[in-house]
Amino acid sequence: AAALKVGVAGLGTVGASVIKILDERRDALTASSGRPIQVTAVSARERGKDRGVDLNNIKWHDDPLTLAADANVDLVVELIGGAEGKARATVETALKNGKPVVTANKALLAAHGLALAALAEEKNVSLAFEAAVAGGIPIIKTLREALPGSRLDRVSGILNGTCNFILTRMEEDGLSFGEALALAQKLGYAEADPTFDIGGFDAAHKLAILTSLAFGTQIDADAIYVEGIQSISPLDLATAEELGYRIKLLGVATRTEAGIEQRVHPTMVPKSAPLAQVMGVTNAVQISGSASDITLVGPGAGGAATASAVIADIVDVARGASRLPFGVPVKELQKLERAAIQTH
Ligand code: HSE
Repeated sequence: AAALKVGVAGLGTVGASVIKILDERRDALTASSGRPIQVTAVSARERGKDRGVDLNNIKWHDDPLTLAADANVDLVVELIGGAEGKARATVETALKNGKPVVTANKALLAAHGLALAALAEEKNVSLAFEAAVAGGIPIIKTLREALPGSRLDRVSGILNGTCNFILTRMEEDGLSFGEALALAQKLGYAEADPTFDIGGFDAAHKLAILTSLAFGTQIDADAIYVEGIQSISPLDLATAEELGYRIKLLGVATRTEAGIEQRVHPTMVPKSAPLAQVMGVTNAVQISGSASDITLVGPGAGGAATASAVIADIVDVARGASRLPFGVPVKELQKLERAAIQTH
């Protein structure tokens, strides 16, 4: 079969890792996709930078918008980041040109997910975002495909690897907040602006996406109560420890009589609870409902884990699997009231 020609917009930790894995696992991926997957175009801000991958036979675009319209690209992978600007325009251009899109951009989806999903539905192409939430955990696939028999009541979890890493290093190694954050940045876990991580906003974006999939509501990140971990001190962690707790930054969405309540904040979790066992850059998601009570645990950030989720979506597109981005048509979601309510 003809190769699927992939354009990668954004060559940070994840983008470089996607290109590397597509190359290293070429044969296995061709076998599981039923056709070769070939990177034909890339774009990033800096051309000369050494990213540890060979870009010699790949067309370079200075502007991701020309990549999104390139006739030699069948599928656009958007790894630019940010809710507006080039990232949004790249995704819109690709979809308008009838090209499926794979993105890891939770901020974009939290802000414009439904409009982009409507565009994808109109053009009858995929908009896939497994990598946007808890990189190494197949949570989007799970929520969208694996639990149709269950009425879900609660989705919660550790959704930011950087925060969990910082809290773990402070607790286990006695690092200061600043030292732990610097280390997370050095290891490539943190967002370009780490305020998104430590302020709880990255977790909130991810929670908004999970809420929409779990409860069939409109994405509403603005209705989330958000508090970050900036003011957690080593003393707080030690006090919690003495009382038999660990402090975790949790995202929680719960079905209530008034609607879906969403919140992100540092939480005292009993040490014996599954979420308290999750240390380091790991993420975890708990889903409970009428017929399910599961916890998924896995790497939440970092190039390889997130790239692996991007590749799962690329393989889906290569196989011809086409799904509604949010599980049901966007017009069904839009019929609903804004179900999310603010909580304090
Ligand atoms: N900065 C994010 C995190 C990366 O630490 O979880 C993955 O979205």
